[in-house]
Amino acid sequence: MSETYAELIAAARAAQARSYSPYSRFAVGAALLGESGRVYVGTNVENASFGLSICAERAAVCRAVAEGERRFVALAVTTADAAPTPPCGACRQVLQEFAPELTVLLAGRDGAVEEWRLAGLLPRAFTSFGDPADGKAP
Ligand code: THU
Repeated sequence: MSETYAELIAAARAAQARSYSPYSRFAVGAALLGESGRVYVGTNVENASFGLSICAERAAVCRAVAEGERRFVALAVTTADAAPTPPCGACRQVLQEFAPELTVLLAGRDGAVEEWRLAGLLPRAFTSFGDPADGKAP
């Protein structure tokens, strides 16, 4: 595995440690590598009103967009599960908006890493407005 990928996974693990997940006790970390080389982390933040909880991956996307980056190269996702944990469907769709070519690294607790392309996790995605990030969308 490349040093960049190892660093991305380490950044996701650090965010995972800051998860606010008292209800599920399922801490998730995400780290998104922008085309600029900057890394944006996210973690899941739950709420007593369960449906308001936000996933780590979408938190990372929101952070990146708020900081001015919209194009991404790779995402690392970590949890405490032994098996690598893939992003939920909602997160896949949100990632598709900004990074259809994204490399997705899923890191299990004991060092196992799966490498995916977003297109493999979200085949035949909904993209009816073309490439919204190009600024031509309504
Ligand atoms: N979770 C994520 O952070 N990312 C996913 O892709 C799946 C689920 C969080 C949401 C909730 O806080 C906890 O994991 C259990 O579902």
